[in-house]
Amino acid sequence: MQRPSKINETGQEMSMMNLKGASMLVTGGNGAVGCNLVRRLLEQGSKVTVLDDFSQSDTGNLPRHQNLVIVKGDITDKRSLAKAFSKRFDYVFHLAARFANELSVKDPLEDLRVNVQGTVQVLLYSLKQKPERFLYTSSSSLYGYQENPIMKEDMMPNPSTPYATSKLTAEYYCKSIHKLYDMDYTIVRLSNSYGPYDPPGRFRNVIPNFFENAMNNRPLIITGTGKETRDFTFVEDCVDGIILAATKKAGRNQIFNLGTGKETQIRDIARLVLDITNSRSKIKHRPMRSFDHVKRRRMDISKARRMLGYNPSTTIKQGLDKTYQWFLTR
Ligand SMILES: NC(=O)c1ccc[n+]([C@@H]2O[C@H](COP(=O)([O-])OP(=O)(O)OC[C@H]3O[C@@H](n4cnc5c(N)ncnc54)[C@H](O)[C@@H]3O)[C@@H](O)[C@H]2O)c1
Repeated sequence: MQRPSKINETGQEMSMMNLKGASMLVTGGNGAVGCNLVRRLLEQGSKVTVLDDFSQSDTGNLPRHQNLVIVKGDITDKRSLAKAFSKRFDYVFHLAARFANELSVKDPLEDLRVNVQGTVQVLLYSLKQKPERFLYTSSSSLYGYQENPIMKEDMMPNPSTPYATSKLTAEYYCKSIHKLYDMDYTIVRLSNSYGPYDPPGRFRNVIPNFFENAMNNRPLIITGTGKETRDFTFVEDCVDGIILAATKKAGRNQIFNLGTGKETQIRDIARLVLDITNSRSKIKHRPMRSFDHVKRRRMDISKARRMLGYNPSTTIKQGLDKTYQWFLTR
């Protein structure tokens, strides 16, 4: 594995590590974010193993590739873990999780099993190898309701769902394993990722469900007034941030928000989707879901910009156009 890095005037590393030949484990690598990450790592010449039980993702998300090994199994199952960890990894990207808020409200115990117990299992197996870095994908949802709609990494988390609580708890496990055994971690808090390979579904994200309904001339359902905002992040920008955070020295044992730094109203997303798909669907409103107390949220990404050179560049229109192109091929 080569590790060239350009140094700028302030002494910061500028380029991503050359990942050619590096050995990577991606748990949840068949999921919406995971399969985009895997595709990018393969493009960069890495050797990738995916551990995924395919419980929440379609088959066919991953390409056939000579440098890709897929282990179908549960992250809480020791046999599956032993199989996945039968080779040594330079980097472990831990994305497998039960996703997300609504599902966790229905079944908090399953959420705890996968998101917390599963993370601890993956941490312990990683520890036997001590990879360069253990990258954990956490979530903006752990901030919960805050007076200030701009989320900063040093804010006191205020999780309000079992999912958000499980993501925060798993962060603490990454930190305590580091303190006990000196295994380096990086935590990235993702914010409303969207894009190709993110399927529609009852417990899935708003954007794929808008596309699915718009393309079938069914109403687009907004829970709330539509003026609620989130920091929607195109998945390729998330992948950039994940790889930068895992491979840059500056990312060692740090937490980073990954978003765009901009908030978009849900009703604007709905209108854009109707426009892009040329749909006759109507927008319908339902009351906000009982667990959702957050009217506005965007991520402060200045830390990731400064320390990692993270620079999300996809506009919401560009990202939705690319998402639509993917929907047309499904
Ligand atoms: N997508 C977002 O907007 C977002 C936002 C914040 C955080 N995150 C986090 O990023 C990560 C990836 O999210 P995503 O959108 O790709 O989710 P996803 O549901 O699309 O993918 C998760 C993957 O994990 C797999 N999985 C679930 N339980 C498993 C288990 N017990 N063993 C093995 N594999 C299992 C699923 O089959 C799926 O392929 C998750 O950790 C999620 O919490 C995502």
